[in-house]
Amino acid sequence: MAEILDGKLTSQALKDQIAEEVKAFRAEGGKQPHLAAILVGEDGASQTYVNHKVKACDEVGFKSTLKRFPADISEEELLKVVEDINADDDIDGLIVQLPLPKHISVQKVTDRIVPEKDVDGFHPVNVGRMTKNLPSYISATPFGILKLIEHYNIDTFGKHCVVVGRSNIVGSPMSILMARNGKPGNATVTLCHRYTQGLEQYTRQADILIVAVGIPEFIKGDMVKEGAVVIDVGITRVEDASKKRGYVLKGDCEFSSCEEKASHITPVPGGVGPMTISSLLYNTLMSARNEVY
Ligand code: GUN
Repeated sequence: MAEILDGKLTSQALKDQIAEEVKAFRAEGGKQPHLAAILVGEDGASQTYVNHKVKACDEVGFKSTLKRFPADISEEELLKVVEDINADDDIDGLIVQLPLPKHISVQKVTDRIVPEKDVDGFHPVNVGRMTKNLPSYISATPFGILKLIEHYNIDTFGKHCVVVGRSNIVGSPMSILMARNGKPGNATVTLCHRYTQGLEQYTRQADILIVAVGIPEFIKGDMVKEGAVVIDVGITRVEDASKKRGYVLKGDCEFSSCEEKASHITPVPGGVGPMTISSLLYNTLMSARNEVY
């Protein structure tokens, strides 16, 4: 049976560390870190994620501001909100919860956030700096995965890491981070995506398999190498009338069959998700301390 990579426990340890660092920073006269979040529309999952982020701010002693807007807000109005937050000296970090309604360009909105407050690490300046191994805000999910790998002392040096999914938020930065000269890092990376032919040929070679495609139970145990480390980024609500909420959460990996092959595996929920939140807090703390720019 695989060892569970417990994102809840690891995230709590990171939050405890952040709370201590906030106390120390403020005792030296530093400001209270302040994260602002923008939420557009009524998407249930997005509301849940943003609420988790706001609650986590409370837990570590940050100030938070949640700005909610109806789904029909215009792109121009939203860009103005971003600019106002850019100009607000009390706010250290700003995130715009994705997805956005179709009439709003994600790129335009995320590019409008000044890189110094882009704690989601989506701005091209931060992505570029990350690829050059310069100080930058690393997107919270990839950053959280690195911290989870580090926490469990998983050796990545020279290992074959296969990333499935090439999104801007997870797959693409993850592939760069695992290959770059760092710890964790220095892996040999294969990046697979929807047009990869013979996907299982690659996944079966992975010492570390990171899956971020958003398709429930896409990876089965027979696609996993014996002893692999399986990191499941997916979290999809799947309808289930027998449940009180009417849905269950499913990862991109079929847990029961993958667990039989893996040496380590992340559960869903309770794996990567909580790490994303504590990594976002960490980025915000770095911003408050002016550590990146
Ligand atoms: N939606 C899914 N993942 C993310 C994330 O990491 N940040 C934001 N802002 N929205 C998301």
